[in-house]
Amino acid sequence: MKRLLLAALAASALSLHAQDVQLTLHPQDAKNVIPAEIYGQFAEHLGSCIYGGIWVGKDSPIPNTEGYRNDVLQALKDLEIPVLRWPGGCFADEYHWMDGIGPQENRPRLVNNNWGGTVEDNSFGTHEFLNLCEMLGCEPYVSGNVGSGSVEEMAKWIEYMTSDTNSTMAELRRKNGRDKPWKVKYFGVGNESWGCGGNMTPEYYVNEYRRYAIYARDYGKNRLFRIASGANATDNHWTEVCMKQIGPGRMKGLSVHYYAVRNWDEGKKGSATDFTAQNYYETLSKAMGIEKCVVDHMKIMDKYDPKKKVAFMVDEWGTWWEVEPGTNPGHLFQQNTMRDAIVASTSLDIFQKYTDRIKMTNIAQVVNVLQAMVLTRGDQMLLTPTYYVFTMYKPHKLGTFIPADLTCEQITVNDKESVPQVSSTQSVKDGVITLSLTNTDLSHEHTVAVNVDGMQIKGAEGTIINARNISDYNEFGKAEKIHPEVFKGTQVKKGQLLVTLPAHSIVTLTLK
Ligand code: AHR
Repeated sequence: MKRLLLAALAASALSLHAQDVQLTLHPQDAKNVIPAEIYGQFAEHLGSCIYGGIWVGKDSPIPNTEGYRNDVLQALKDLEIPVLRWPGGCFADEYHWMDGIGPQENRPRLVNNNWGGTVEDNSFGTHEFLNLCEMLGCEPYVSGNVGSGSVEEMAKWIEYMTSDTNSTMAELRRKNGRDKPWKVKYFGVGNESWGCGGNMTPEYYVNEYRRYAIYARDYGKNRLFRIASGANATDNHWTEVCMKQIGPGRMKGLSVHYYAVRNWDEGKKGSATDFTAQNYYETLSKAMGIEKCVVDHMKIMDKYDPKKKVAFMVDEWGTWWEVEPGTNPGHLFQQNTMRDAIVASTSLDIFQKYTDRIKMTNIAQVVNVLQAMVLTRGDQMLLTPTYYVFTMYKPHKLGTFIPADLTCEQITVNDKESVPQVSSTQSVKDGVITLSLTNTDLSHEHTVAVNVDGMQIKGAEGTIINARNISDYNEFGKAEKIHPEVFKGTQVKKGQLLVTLPAHSIVTLTLK
């Protein structure tokens, strides 16, 4: 850490004041609305995401509402989550939904084979999840079990959740306390079917998809948005086969998973909190590599679906570090620093550029797992820097993306890789422009000269998150080190806005 601190001190001495970054917004070319689902979340039965994180049960000493812990519930309500994916992840392809209905005390116990062999009591099941979505006002995204479940099991689950008839499944739901069907929009036909979801080849999976999806029926007014399990990161062949053999008529969405992990194969993911400047830039380069990954997949999608009927869903993304020392290696509990915040903002900047095709993304995961929004320890809870990025980016939801030209220098990572000093995204909603800027540079502030075609900027206001050190994070029981603060680094000169971004900071502004 000393090295980082010295670098930061040297940088402030050298502080660059020049307007070294130029950004020009072209609102006249704005056409793609940013779906709220770009800000989607993911909750898997993994570690303490569900049990202990979201759900403590009615009898817990931790303050709760019908079993959902109050502090987390409030934090998630404040986040205004548009869509929540559940129950996995790898867990989904070993989940048998009937084990999670009926009186909680009678439900069978299961061994969570994917994640640490933890025994779960199934007290959080279909009702608990769908009721949570209603409380949060978000769309549920249910992942069906293709890997180890039958077509019948999946078909009955959908009937149980969404049928308003007097069929046996709908009556069973009523007997278990829910009269009206839930609205379930998003339905995943398997997860990572190339790996934990069945170890299939794409040629095999496409047939399985077609068979399962046809029995994933629409009941009453419910219309399922069926999503095919997509590629592992840059596996373009998977996308090619899905687009060719499933095609737009049979699927509404195709997914991809991309984690910002280097050295995955060597098993050295690196510490969440103890890292060098070089580690930081390497991670950022990997994270921003998601742009090439999605663009390559989308080119294949365009070949088979030029009208863009099939949505592309990045339904798992984010950082993945070694677990916090002393925690269960299968529970993927990691801290979350300013580095994670910059991975989040730069990734969201990329997703917002491609919303003509990308219609949903789900950061992994919402509580206590990987790049979480919220961390809990016993009855304590904290909000991570990544949570705050999501709150700062809220005004972009349902705004129209504004194309822009950004000119800045690159920071060299190694002979092959570099990252831009500054990343931006911008949108307009109800005539108001929101601009988000990230200074990725650990050592220098940068001043961005912002121009908007056809508009004289009169002023700007907004918030910043920053930290003394890139490796700073919010700790249990201590005052927050990182949270949004009022940003004071703007100046207007002749209709142009000058924004001075401190090293490793994220700013969101409303232009006037
Ligand atoms: O998010 C953790 C795991 O990562 C998910 O269960 C799986 O889909 C992916 O490999």
